[in-house]
Amino acid sequence: MSRGRLCKSTAGWSEASSDGTRVVSIIRTLLLGASGSAWLRERATKTPFVMRSVSRFMPGERLDDAIDAARREQAQGIGAILTHLGENLTTAAEAAEVTRHYLEVLDAVDAAGLEAQISVKPTQLGLGLDPELCYRNLQRLLDRSGERHRVLWMDMESAAYVDDTLALFRRARERSPLIGIALQAYLYRTERDLDALLPLGVTIRLVKGAYLESPRIAYPKKADVDENYYRLACRILNESGHGAVLHIATHDSTLIDRLAEHIDTCHVPASTYEYAMLYGIRQPLQQRLAASGRRVRVLISYGEYWFPWYMRRLAERPANLLFMFRNLFPR
Ligand code: FDA
Repeated sequence: MSRGRLCKSTAGWSEASSDGTRVVSIIRTLLLGASGSAWLRERATKTPFVMRSVSRFMPGERLDDAIDAARREQAQGIGAILTHLGENLTTAAEAAEVTRHYLEVLDAVDAAGLEAQISVKPTQLGLGLDPELCYRNLQRLLDRSGERHRVLWMDMESAAYVDDTLALFRRARERSPLIGIALQAYLYRTERDLDALLPLGVTIRLVKGAYLESPRIAYPKKADVDENYYRLACRILNESGHGAVLHIATHDSTLIDRLAEHIDTCHVPASTYEYAMLYGIRQPLQQRLAASGRRVRVLISYGEYWFPWYMRRLAERPANLLFMFRNLFPR
């Protein structure tokens, strides 16, 4: 097999000149496409081997499972961010129910004495239905998490929601500084979005981006996404004197090492950045960073609506499919 450059088209990451990785690219497109299929979701979520394989990335469907996992992380010096899976809700009542659930989560992490934050998807709070309704739900969560001195995170979803999510964030940020937002390094626009946000002294989670986007709006090559990630992260770190805080949200050890060098060379204060990774992914790296005195948080997802989220995890690393199929034959 020839070695080619890593690329991402609408088909996902691939190696440009290799047949084998063109297959990987197709698999990724299928997985990201499958993430939106209600028919597949209905079936997969009842299939025992799929359910077994999800447990690698998710401690369980219940809040108590997430709290227990956060407790275990805390014992290793790692903080947590809890997120209840769900997206693109269709009624205001569902959005109200999600909001009520997150209020309960904030009480539960307090009662458990956990160093935990919450992260919400705007469409879970009703962004796709009515931005005003979404803001009211967000405001309730922001007030409650602010009372508890906890940062509230807003996930960034697919490109169609970026403008509304940023508008929501700016409005919420005027109400409280204890709010952070995810920005995606694969989008060309993120550099401009950062120009507008940095003067506000904001808290940002920088991610590569997990959705299927067109090369018209997102870098098609993985190498370019990685380089953009590095550039954007350095810009945020350099603004640490002006109130910017960065969550380095990646499992990419090359990027992590490059940024650690930048942090050390530029004497970036430790209070202005943290590492953030997903539960179950690259645990030795999480533990190594925590043991070296860096602040690390793990985003713990739980809930019944895990199918689209799980498809995105598989698409990030199709080798995970092997793991999933191995669960066909449990020992
Ligand atoms: P990359 O994909 O290059 O992976 C680097 C290495 O990490 C791989 O070689 C592999 O070893 C390991 N790895 C990565 N993904 C894996 C997986 N699924 N299974 C097993 N190993 C894996 N996205 C988004 O669009 N909006 C958001 O709000 C968020 N929020 C968010 C929060 C946090 C805390 C994290 C860590 C990530 C997100 N993401 C996200 C997801 C993000 O956009 C991206 O898809 C994943 O983090 C994978 O990209 P990496 O940066 O890890 O690099």
